[in-house]
Amino acid sequence: MLLAKSTWSEIEAFLTRSTTVVVPIGSNEQHGPTGLLGTDWMCPEIIAHEAQKDRDDLLVAPTFNIGMAQHHLGFPGTISLRPTTFIAAIGDWCRSLAGHGFTKIYFLNGHGGNVATIEAAFSELYAEASFSQRPRGFAAKLKNWWDLEGVNGLAMVQFPSGHGSHATPSEIAVTQWAYPDAIKIAKYDPPVAPTGPIREAADFRKRFPDGRMGSDPAQATPEKGGALVKLAAEKLLKDVRAFSEEAAP
Ligand code: NI
Repeated sequence: MLLAKSTWSEIEAFLTRSTTVVVPIGSNEQHGPTGLLGTDWMCPEIIAHEAQKDRDDLLVAPTFNIGMAQHHLGFPGTISLRPTTFIAAIGDWCRSLAGHGFTKIYFLNGHGGNVATIEAAFSELYAEASFSQRPRGFAAKLKNWWDLEGVNGLAMVQFPSGHGSHATPSEIAVTQWAYPDAIKIAKYDPPVAPTGPIREAADFRKRFPDGRMGSDPAQATPEKGGALVKLAAEKLLKDVRAFSEEAAP
């Protein structure tokens, strides 16, 4: 069930059956010569939308599609929030949903650079409860899609070398499966990109001239992406169920 394609009265009825909601969250940022700018928000959205198909007990909120990507701003098309803005926005998404009665807010993330800020946003929300000595009323959870049970293992079987950490063949394969009309071709030089630290945008572009980090996206295929989506969607349902069954905050 997609929140965006529901009415308020359908959500009111949903809340009598379940108080859990899944929010795909990612980033709009460069993904090398062939990766789509939307890769990091598309992957969790594709997986969450696949998981809710034909199910009215899994509610998926609109995708939070801009994240913390300041280091990619040297590449056109990247849009970033600074960490403080991102923390404020995540807080207001959670406060909005919790105000309607959602007690479990599950963020399915597609961008490693978001992790520290999302966790900080959760701590800010919990701190409001702790300082006021009143229960927050909801719990938030962060899960990277590749950390769903077995998913990274499958990616390592599919791409034993040249997986890397940015513009990876696994994430590009997922978008190829969902958007075959947007598959791009380029010659990668070198075939496997360099690795190194992440700092500010100008330094990033100097270290990683075509935007990739340690990856060889030429190995991506729609078929491999489809296998990753199928497994991830199945394990997402399992993980969300376990989160829903945790004691209410
Ligand atoms: Ni990515």
